[in-house]
Amino acid sequence: MKHLLKLEDWSTEEIINTLNLADQLKYEQKHGIEHNHLKGKTLGMIFEKASTRTRVSFEVGMTQLGGYPLFLSSNDLQIGRGEPVEDTARVLSRFIDGIMIRTFEQSEVEALAKYGSIPIINGLTDYCHPCQVLADLMTIREFKGKLEGLKMCFIGDGNNMMNSLIVGALSTGMSISVACPEGYDPPKNIIDFGNKYGIDGKFEICRNPIDAAKNADVVYTDVWASMGQEDEKKIREKAFEGYQVNSELMAVTNKDCMVLHCLPAHRGEEITAEVFEAHANEIFEEAENRLHAQKAVLVECMGE
Ligand code: CP
Ligand code: NVA
Repeated sequence: MKHLLKLEDWSTEEIINTLNLADQLKYEQKHGIEHNHLKGKTLGMIFEKASTRTRVSFEVGMTQLGGYPLFLSSNDLQIGRGEPVEDTARVLSRFIDGIMIRTFEQSEVEALAKYGSIPIINGLTDYCHPCQVLADLMTIREFKGKLEGLKMCFIGDGNNMMNSLIVGALSTGMSISVACPEGYDPPKNIIDFGNKYGIDGKFEICRNPIDAAKNADVVYTDVWASMGQEDEKKIREKAFEGYQVNSELMAVTNKDCMVLHCLPAHRGEEITAEVFEAHANEIFEEAENRLHAQKAVLVECMGE
């Protein structure tokens, strides 16, 4: 059985196959070609955090694939009242064909996979956001025609987005330079992954954002305070001062450098309104590609 618990569980071949399938599904959807790969199947979508893109892309995607999406808010589930995830996994496995979950702890996603007997898809944890990064890689390939040999730069927190981008970029032959303040580095296992797969300078952590952005082909950023970190907002605003994607930073990147953002964006914080609007076509294509990439993940994990 195939899960998507975190991107480092998937080989380069599995990632590329998924991107190819996403391109094909995008083409089929645009040309009105039927693609009922998941006819009669039900996806449970557990949300313990807010969502616009992830919820809508999975819900619409499942419908377009001929299946049925079931929105399960933790406010209503017994899981929100303390029913163990081990029991939830075993119960839901008897009703539905797959689960997409957005939650806090990565261990909760891993426990669902361990105790359940259906595919589990990670729709964001504090640790990673693999579905988003598949849509990001799809978008880069669409605009640049390739991934191999390109340089990605990430400015911001060593959190879910940075973690999955390091894995996604290095797994597909890109190099990646990240810039974050001291104390906001990615976790050790991600740094170890970076050092293992990012040989010959393909992976670096910088303190100065300008150093990370030099000769970049893709600049990426994310909010300074993620969901669940609302109490740290003020401290983080101070810590991340200067870690902004602005015209000064874009001036040192390669010609035709793309800008991506997983969204939601906070203009005037991690990105200026000017840079955001100048790259809006890339950013909103990236958002649309959540639909196509998530459909590919659903077919890979839940298809025959
Ligand atoms: N980028 C992303 O995951 O958006 P949502 O939080 O709206 O799902
Ligand atoms: N880092 C952000 C990503 C949102 C898609 C968060 O976790 O809130």
